[in-house]
Amino acid sequence: MDTPRRVEHQQTDRGYIPVYATGVIEQPWASYSATDHGVWAQLFRRQREILPGRACREFLDNVERIGLGADAIPKFDDLNRVLRRATGWELVGVEGLLPDHVFFDHLAHRRFPVTWWIRKPEQLDYIAEPDLFHDLFGHVPLLMNPVFADYMQAYGRGGMKAHGIDADALMNLTRLYWYTVEFGLIRTGEGLRIYGSGIVSSKGESIYCLESDAPNRLGFDLERVMRTRYKIDTYQQTYFVIDGFEQLFEATRPDFAPIYAKLKTLPAYPAGEVLPGDRVYHRGTGEGWVRSGDV
Ligand code: PHE
Ligand code: FE
Repeated sequence: MDTPRRVEHQQTDRGYIPVYATGVIEQPWASYSATDHGVWAQLFRRQREILPGRACREFLDNVERIGLGADAIPKFDDLNRVLRRATGWELVGVEGLLPDHVFFDHLAHRRFPVTWWIRKPEQLDYIAEPDLFHDLFGHVPLLMNPVFADYMQAYGRGGMKAHGIDADALMNLTRLYWYTVEFGLIRTGEGLRIYGSGIVSSKGESIYCLESDAPNRLGFDLERVMRTRYKIDTYQQTYFVIDGFEQLFEATRPDFAPIYAKLKTLPAYPAGEVLPGDRVYHRGTGEGWVRSGDV
């Protein structure tokens, strides 16, 4: 993209960094400490250890192909050379979560915002907001996959559209993102596998989502997913399983405007509920569930 205009400097605990109108900042790579690189190395090694046999092949292969390794926090510029050639996507550095419409605009232009800072050593297992490890390790490998790459751009465009409708439409679309991009499972010839970024960047949930009896594992259905509330501070109570990225892309191709209008008149479902029409891969025991706090 064109280099955006530098609009201000923002003070952070790492000093002043330039911030652009689109929220984009240059990755201040030289400012990462040895501790930061160490956190990356630990998280990377840990996930590389447990993800084979759990994450889908498209994810694992692309971790290799884009050149992620344990030695240091990757430079966005290095990854971008590979990514641009593969699918035309690029990473842009950001300070953290962006306003919805700014985030959608980036995706619609095949730019993926990546938080530039990494969590602290005491946050290896849980961090409430997305950091570099989640955004980069979790999201970027699948942007190397052509079908998934197109889905993400279509999602960005759909987001711009939903933003122009109303808050309910945005909520429906956000649930779709949550249960696919962030917490999706995929059915393969070898069994269920993970593709959701919120799972692959978490050691605990990478194991829980596939091996625990507690959560439901249900077949993906667009309107069902758009009506399902979710948990933001515990592991998910329900995971939705797609048959492939093509299925996801095709199921989301239709115009959502009439779907949003229809869903306005219908109630949402609690995160842990199994419905009569669901294709049930596993009915969760509900063990350890907190019944409140769905969003
Ligand atoms: N087809 C959707 C719409 O009309 C756009 C979209 C595509 C949304 C892919 C999400 C994912 O709004
Ligand atoms: Fe994410």
